[in-house]
Amino acid sequence: RLRVLSGIQPTAGSFHLGNYLGAVREWVALQETHDAFYMVVDLHAITIPQDPAELRASTRLAAAQLLGAGVDPARCTLFVQSHVPEHTQLAWVMNCLTRFGEASRMTQFKDKAAKQGAEGTSVGLFTYPVLQAADILLYHANQVPVGEDQRQHVELTRDVGQRFNSLYGETLTLPDAYIPKAAAKIYDLQDPSAKMSKSATSDKGVVWLMDEPKVSAKKFRSAVTDAGTEVRYDPEAKPGVSNLLTVYSALTGISVGEIEEKFTGQLYGPLKVEVAELFADWVAPFRARVNEFLDDSAQLDAILAEGAAKDWLPLLMVDGHDLDPTMGSVVY
Ligand code: TYM
Repeated sequence: RLRVLSGIQPTAGSFHLGNYLGAVREWVALQETHDAFYMVVDLHAITIPQDPAELRASTRLAAAQLLGAGVDPARCTLFVQSHVPEHTQLAWVMNCLTRFGEASRMTQFKDKAAKQGAEGTSVGLFTYPVLQAADILLYHANQVPVGEDQRQHVELTRDVGQRFNSLYGETLTLPDAYIPKAAAKIYDLQDPSAKMSKSATSDKGVVWLMDEPKVSAKKFRSAVTDAGTEVRYDPEAKPGVSNLLTVYSALTGISVGEIEEKFTGQLYGPLKVEVAELFADWVAPFRARVNEFLDDSAQLDAILAEGAAKDWLPLLMVDGHDLDPTMGSVVY
């Protein structure tokens, strides 16, 4: 079986629809066919200031949402990044192999640093993609299921992994990004030129999974579309309508073409109403499952502890040889 690995940051409120359709939904499918490793990346979250108690709470909430979405600890390894110290150990080695210019070209860093100003930006935010590379390389992952916005980070992972191999011998597996075609990028409902994002300046166009379904339904109903009338998939001319069609298709499995046909002769209103209903139907049982996992904190802790213990096995073996977990034996 090929191995997949992916991570998601804990966020204070909850995941948003982009996280679910672009990534988590694929994780659930891939655990059936792949050797799967999924983690909550709390160390990535502290690249911006966090309150420790809140971060602990949102890490548990993130895990509960993954479980509620169908990530199953019996089918994959689910854990919290900071519970496995090797991530930061390998990250240091990778920091030493990553060039300053290479890291400076990461567009996500450039965007975030531009928003915050260089003075207020942590060095951790700068080396964030290097920690991500370590996350992936540590497990010899073949594929990394992520949304489009993470493609560049997976490419960096390949580059530094390749550099490691050419310096110290073939050791690390070079991964490919696994990006779902249909829902690789979900856009903000109020500003369909921007991706749906946890750091959007206004959350009017961001659909949070743990919000009251009524609140989210309203966001769909007031989604920005365009002055035209025809329900047609055309991301250039009709970004808002196209985004709604993407969500509709992702939630139902019905092709965009069929949905267009279904709405022939109708205005945008009915499409918005139907997407709102589809989402509400999906999210209600999801929220109930998440709350059940949150209520049973002993079970949640046990699942995460087991995940952190289990992932030792694969990471230590390369071609049947044990590796020192610090990678020290390879580097020196
Ligand atoms: P994060 O937490 O920002 O996002 C989690 C996943 O959600 C996807 N995503 C989207 N997909 C479609 N449309 C959107 N609007 C949208 N917004 C977010 C992201 O692409 C991602 O797959 N650096 C990563 C976490 C990470 C990681 C890793 C991922 C750390 N280590 C190792 C893979 C492998 C991040 O911050 O994702």
